[in-house]
Amino acid sequence: MSQPTIESILQENRLFHPSAEFSQTARIKSLGEYRALCDRASADPQAFWADLARQELHWFQPWDSVLDWSDPPFAKWFTQGKLNLSYNCLDRHLTTDKRDKPAIVWEGEPGDSRTLTYAELHQDVCKFANVLKDLGVQKGDRVGIYMPMIPEAAIAMLACARIGAPHSVVFGGFSAEALRDRLIDVEANVVITADGGWRKDAIVPLKEQVDTALKDARVAVHHVLVVQRTGQATAMEPGRDVWWHDLAPTASTNCPAEPMDSEDMLFVLYTSGSTGKPKGVVHTTGGYNLYAHITTQWIFDLQENDVYWCTADVGWITGHTYVVYGVLSNGATSVMYEGAPRGSNPGCFWDVIEKHQVSVFYTAPTAIRAFIKMGDEHPKARDLSSLRLLGTVGEPINPEAWMWYHTVIGGERCPIVDTWWQTETGGIMITALPGAIPTKPGSATLPFPGIQADVVDLEGNSVGVNEGGYLAVRYPHPGMMRTIYGDPDRFRRTYWEHIPPKDGNYLYFAGDGARRDEDGYFWVMGRVDDVINSAGHRLGTMEIESALVSHPAVAEAAVVGKPDDIKGEDIVAFVTLEGTHQSSEALAKELKQHVTKEIGAIARPGEIRFAEALPKTRSGKIMRRLLRDLAAGAEISGDTSTLEDRGVLEKLREG
Ligand code: PRX
Repeated sequence: MSQPTIESILQENRLFHPSAEFSQTARIKSLGEYRALCDRASADPQAFWADLARQELHWFQPWDSVLDWSDPPFAKWFTQGKLNLSYNCLDRHLTTDKRDKPAIVWEGEPGDSRTLTYAELHQDVCKFANVLKDLGVQKGDRVGIYMPMIPEAAIAMLACARIGAPHSVVFGGFSAEALRDRLIDVEANVVITADGGWRKDAIVPLKEQVDTALKDARVAVHHVLVVQRTGQATAMEPGRDVWWHDLAPTASTNCPAEPMDSEDMLFVLYTSGSTGKPKGVVHTTGGYNLYAHITTQWIFDLQENDVYWCTADVGWITGHTYVVYGVLSNGATSVMYEGAPRGSNPGCFWDVIEKHQVSVFYTAPTAIRAFIKMGDEHPKARDLSSLRLLGTVGEPINPEAWMWYHTVIGGERCPIVDTWWQTETGGIMITALPGAIPTKPGSATLPFPGIQADVVDLEGNSVGVNEGGYLAVRYPHPGMMRTIYGDPDRFRRTYWEHIPPKDGNYLYFAGDGARRDEDGYFWVMGRVDDVINSAGHRLGTMEIESALVSHPAVAEAAVVGKPDDIKGEDIVAFVTLEGTHQSSEALAKELKQHVTKEIGAIARPGEIRFAEALPKTRSGKIMRRLLRDLAAGAEISGDTSTLEDRGVLEKLREG
């Protein structure tokens, strides 16, 4: 990769301090306390994490060594330690007064709701786990989960964790084809799904998509466990498909949690990279449990009576860590919502906050921007006074959206934690601790204690104050992914060799550009690779391009992101056509539909631009940088001397 110029034009100097009242009762109360934690963690990282692991989690058997880093970049944490994440999320709370506390408060899109206490959730998880065992699932077997946002999605995940069967959750917005590819790659033999789910006032027929995915002989699934959600007629294949409601009444509630090795695989979650097919990010048990637990506790400042709501879907890492595992491990109340921001109810999020008296609220900038557009009257018509802390995740938040969140939603009293992290890192890496760290709109602020984040050049040297560079992490942390499922070489290449290790010191390359200001605050500027972040969804340009070229009319495709007010980035596809195919409105529509079918609506290009040829270097590499400028309607910037045929650019410009 050549060294691009990373520049930030954002200048933002406003500083917001937490109120004395907030800091007084906060988990971490001052900058001094934060710094002391960082100092302890850098003086003796292993002791820092070991103390937390001992204090915060239940272990069936203690570990031998805290960190085994003898074979970098493959780290092992708490080796030989035995624990179970579902035990830490459920069983250990049952002997305390959390037993009858709401664990999950669920709100369905049509307005139905359910509350499950810790005792009730434990029972359901045990039953679900026993049903999975009856279907032949054994420790180590991978289970696919393709579910709407209903409590059974969390129950299914916890049931898998309970019996030691790694789950692989596939977001319900992915198409049958995308589901099929993930099920094949992860070698799942059981899938858990629902008849359907509600999304934007319509039913998404999930089970139907599973049936389509399973037609491919390469999928090894022999059983489908179906939860009834929407109630429409659903085809069931005898011998393969079973209804959860048929089996639940007789399933035993006795299912002891399997003692898992700290390094046993907990889940595989697919995410997009710059090249090739999506990567199966592998997380393991002990380190992930600890990191999910402690980041949730400190960053969201969990207090006994908090009602915490993270709006993410469980199909993404945010849903794994901050809807399910981190929250329940702390014995807190997690609100789960089936709906998405939608025009038919522009106050839908604010209704949930008012109804359930949500105190901590965590969402994405793209949702915030969508609500800004819908108008202030909607939040203003609701009582949001229960809120005391706000968070954002998924992409850089523009200061205007931050200020709206701060004033209109937070009533100027709630700190905002802007949290930077990735599927790969398992939990939040750079963020404010709300009672301790003053915030600046648009900055994720400072690294979590124990995280050695830096901004570097391609040799791994730290760049100067306010200079752009690559976001990197210098030392392993417990929540980090362990490998890519079935492809350890790709893990090494993708994350650890962009910046060549020096004297055995490996640097994790995150794929984001950033700068650090004079206070050491991080300003994340977005991806430096061919990954698009559209409406908070991470998409590889390669994946969308492969979907496009699989259409018979398309010869070549290049996909880029273009700035968008709501989504952050919209997807623009430049395509050249095969033989006699002619460009037309109808074909553009058909190609968009084709991408929806191949990947899902989240990857549907906003714009298709037909071209006679694509701009390439003499070695044949498509020059996306130029296409990005063209898509944005901007002047072509930077060097075009490596362009093979300058005429191509002129033609594209003329459109
Ligand atoms: O580019 C960064 C952006 O989202 C990417 C990670 O995407 P994903 O693995 O899907 O996880 C999203 C939820 C953790 C990052 O490489 N990103 C995430 N959070 C922020 C962000 N960019 C700027 N600021 C953030 N707070």
